[in-house]
Amino acid sequence: MGIRFLTAGDSHGEALVGIVEGLPAGLKLDERVIQRELARRRKSYGRSSRQKIEKDEVSITGGLWKGKTTGAPIAIVLPNRARTVKGKTGGGLETVPRPGHADFAGVMKYGFDEIPPVSERASARSTAMRVAIGAVAKAFLGELGVAAIGHVRSIGSIAARASTLSPREIRKRAERSLVYCADGRAGRRMIAEIQRGRTEGNSLGGSVEVIVTGLFPGIGSHVEWDRKLDARLAGAMMSIQSVKAVEIGDGLSTYRARGVDAHDAMRVERGRVIRPSNHAGGIEGGMTNGEDVIVRLYAKPIPTAPRRALTFDLETLEPTESPYVRSDICVVPVLAVIAEAVASWVILAAIMEKLGGDTIDDTLAAKKRVVAALSKRLSR
Ligand SMILES: Cc1cc2nc3c(=O)[nH]c(=O)nc-3n(C[C@H](O)[C@H](O)[C@H](O)COP(=O)(O)O)c2cc1C
Repeated sequence: MGIRFLTAGDSHGEALVGIVEGLPAGLKLDERVIQRELARRRKSYGRSSRQKIEKDEVSITGGLWKGKTTGAPIAIVLPNRARTVKGKTGGGLETVPRPGHADFAGVMKYGFDEIPPVSERASARSTAMRVAIGAVAKAFLGELGVAAIGHVRSIGSIAARASTLSPREIRKRAERSLVYCADGRAGRRMIAEIQRGRTEGNSLGGSVEVIVTGLFPGIGSHVEWDRKLDARLAGAMMSIQSVKAVEIGDGLSTYRARGVDAHDAMRVERGRVIRPSNHAGGIEGGMTNGEDVIVRLYAKPIPTAPRRALTFDLETLEPTESPYVRSDICVVPVLAVIAEAVASWVILAAIMEKLGGDTIDDTLAAKKRVVAALSKRLSR
């Protein structure tokens, strides 16, 4: 069996809980590794005051022995401090379904006569646990020389310039930006755009990109639909709240290109394939081809905004306005952090199918063997 995880918990419940299963023994891990990623999630610009309330004091309550994984399920607990803060209910939140949220479909499906059992679970607070679990995946990927780098490409009508920077440089610059944008000038305009949105009472969407480096060819598989890495990445990315489209490589422009121009030529040099372009985003036929994997996400403006949408009351069936409570204005910067975590998990799961191992040393040795065999195959 491969690696897997489950999450539980509500937005304003006592805590979010995550269980990660199937990781080998021997990986160094502690709460700080997770806390660091949660701090990146909190810091992003455009969020609500909840980010000041949450401290994200996470604990790992199972699966570790003397600071290393044991091979047993890893249990992660993340308390919600905002549960004690006013504003989570009231103002119509119980019976007025908000357009763009899970509220209406959820109460219809599960037969509730109030919305919170749906909205509390559908809330993107759950992405804090996705980030925590992604932090565990990242720690493992780090041992394997693999890194995921998320950055913002656009917010509202402001787009970053197309980048020729190395992934490492993108990471460095994006980390210095409040909106995780590697293009400093565009980043400043994005902040102004969010401020404008706040003043006008409107929310903003945008797009982010994740670049995964350090991959060898053959992760994922072409043999069946649910083994394809691009399908798995797209599915996982679409599961993030507010994401409405996913692009692998230049998918949204190559569909207009002609034949050979849409593809990436190859030549062999010193035991590896070199390509002058990466339109495919590092995945061909559902497998990594050795280039960086590139995934782009497109997010809608979040539904709750001071400018309210028209809806109805479930009790009276009378028209009314969508309730407004404390809300983010723009979640695109934080999506860069969440998408990085989600990509890390999917990539790690596919790598583990290829390499396996009960201990981290087994996995590292298997990687060495695979990489050496690939290089030999490409050497005269
Ligand atoms: C990190 C994050 C924070 C979000 N915060 C809010 C918010 O404060 N208000 C809101 O209306 N939507 C917010 N959303 C979006 C909703 O959670 C999302 O639109 C809703 O659950 C419906 O899911 P869907 O858009 O994927 O269909 C957030 C999304 C993310 C990723």
